[in-house]
Amino acid sequence: MELIEDNPRAPLVPVNGIPLIKYFAEALEQLKDFQAWPDDILISTYPKSGTTWASEILDMIYQGGDRKKCQRSPIFIRVPFLEFKAPGVPTGMETLKETPPPRILKTHLPLSLVPQTLLDQKVKIIYIARNAKDVAVSYFNFYKMAKVHPEPGSWEEFLEKFMTGKVSYGSWYQHVLEWWELRKRHPVLYLFYEDMKKDPKKEIQKIIDFVGRPLPENILDQIVQQTSFKAMRENPMTNYSTLPKQIMDHSISPFMRKGATGDWKNTFTVAQNERFDADYEKQMAGSDLHFNTEL
Ligand code: A3P
Repeated sequence: MELIEDNPRAPLVPVNGIPLIKYFAEALEQLKDFQAWPDDILISTYPKSGTTWASEILDMIYQGGDRKKCQRSPIFIRVPFLEFKAPGVPTGMETLKETPPPRILKTHLPLSLVPQTLLDQKVKIIYIARNAKDVAVSYFNFYKMAKVHPEPGSWEEFLEKFMTGKVSYGSWYQHVLEWWELRKRHPVLYLFYEDMKKDPKKEIQKIIDFVGRPLPENILDQIVQQTSFKAMRENPMTNYSTLPKQIMDHSISPFMRKGATGDWKNTFTVAQNERFDADYEKQMAGSDLHFNTEL
């Protein structure tokens, strides 16, 4: 059996120009057999944008707010991660085989690598976007603790890689923009992490309406509570603590790290922020997609 120690911190592998974690690049081969079903729901995000949060919200909605049912297995089993592969852990495709419909699926893939079957089957997509600065900081800490990634280098070095799309899954700018455009021709509910922080009840109601699974208000209130950062940080079924330390080492940085908007200010220097803003304007020029970087 392959061990992660055999390939510690393997370099990213380009697939159609998109750099990917070595194991995930390998998993794309298996993903060719994937068949989407019309009642699937896909959660799509650039990494570190609130995927786990949205996954727990969706599962809670599907289980009618039943907390016990949502404790049946870790979030990465309840919501299969399509391109996931890591030594010693079931792949996304293996997990999928054990998943009864209606299925909630997760991907971080850019549109160019997303299995066409999801688009052909008109699968409803919930896209969560988060502002680039908080994503960059969250991603830097995640690179350090999730050892399927290459070494991130210093923060300065990592930020440079982030800005030039040389991190796993490529450019944040391209990702958020292409899924934003997709909503014009496909059923996409495009939500923002910052809005979810500000008014989770309102955003969860949007998800409920989009998936067509109405719930009484008291259940909605319970879902808001049970999917709060604090509740999810303490819940072993959502905080990734069940994964082996060789895959994720929470002593380096916990998966449920801060869960805040505007935390980037604790990491960016003034000079880095100015350079980032100037580059951001260029990369997002002409787009009507806007983000809040603080609440
Ligand atoms: P931080 O590293 O900034 O804390 P993903 O699930 O896409 O990998 O995103 C992980 C980020 O979402 C982490 O951000 C994590 O703390 C945050 N997060 C997870 N659950 C959350 C919740 N219920 N509320 C707010 N943030 C949450």
